Amino acid sequence: MIQQVHPAALELHNLTVAYRQKPVLWNIDFTLPPGQLIGIVGPNGSGKTTMIKATMGLVPISSGAVKIFDQPLAQVRARVSYVPQRNSVDWDFPVNVWEVVLMGRARPGQLFRRYSREDKALARQALEQVKMENFARRQIAELSGGQQQRVFLARALAQQADLYLMDEPFAGVDAATEQAIMELLKSMRAAGKTIIVVHHDLQTVNEYFDWVVLLNTRLIASGPTMAAFTPELLYQTYGGKLNILSQVGDLLSQKQHPLREKTPKAP
Ligand SMILES: Nc1ncnc2c1ncn2[C@@H]1O[C@H](COP(=O)(O)OP(=O)(O)OP(=O)(O)O)[C@@H](O)[C@H]1O
Ligand SMILES: [Mg+2]
Repeated sequence: MIQQVHPAALELHNLTVAYRQKPVLWNIDFTLPPGQLIGIVGPNGSGKTTMIKATMGLVPISSGAVKIFDQPLAQVRARVSYVPQRNSVDWDFPVNVWEVVLMGRARPGQLFRRYSREDKALARQALEQVKMENFARRQIAELSGGQQQRVFLARALAQQADLYLMDEPFAGVDAATEQAIMELLKSMRAAGKTIIVVHHDLQTVNEYFDWVVLLNTRLIASGPTMAAFTPELLYQTYGGKLNILSQVGDLLSQKQHPLREKTPKAP
């Protein structure tokens, strides 16, 4: 019998996405391994959210293809969980924490499904994992930003997916919460999940991620963090914006310094 090798978690093939004819992702092509913590890194407007949305079928693709676990999204939708960028969600929607987390157990096309005992147990467990069980009846609009973020993480956990796409899960959360979320993500990885995280803090990339995708409309790099998260590639990704690159001062000062312009030779 032929041994089944683990399929890639996510493949993008020559993916181009445009808003009003203007490409914001250009010919992106990469393959991401399963069972890893993967960081998506790039400046504001570089197409990170668009890439996640295109993967989830939420924005039209101009050309190219998306494959998840070797299949089109429609075949594996239940195995994929998406945590949107927080500021993209309407928080005034009148719904409480418990209802949001239970939505993680909803099935496509079954909006008014009755939730089973198991669904409720999974939702409760997810709320405990993010330490929000005492807020179950609270309206979502009445939570702090960091608390909302944890509730949306709980919804994703309740879904029991295999691939998680998280758009800036650490935005606006305090250091202790970030550590707690990170521990959770590591335990998910230990359970074989693939977690793709859009991430802005360059300081923590080395520590957090096994694999990094550098994006700036085009793909700059995709590879193990050791190989892809280099000063040279960051310089390309951020177009030499020094204020951003100063965040990675440690990293840059360790290696040869690509930021310093070569002293022009005397004529
Ligand atoms: N619905 C839309 N209509 C038109 N243009 C859009 C739309 N959404 C995003 N864009 C544009 O597409 C580009 C990529 O946006 P995207 O949200 O993917 O960037 P991002 O990398 O997630 O940025 P950030 O770090 O600020 O979240 C930007 O130039 C943005 O202005
Ligand atoms: Mg974004």
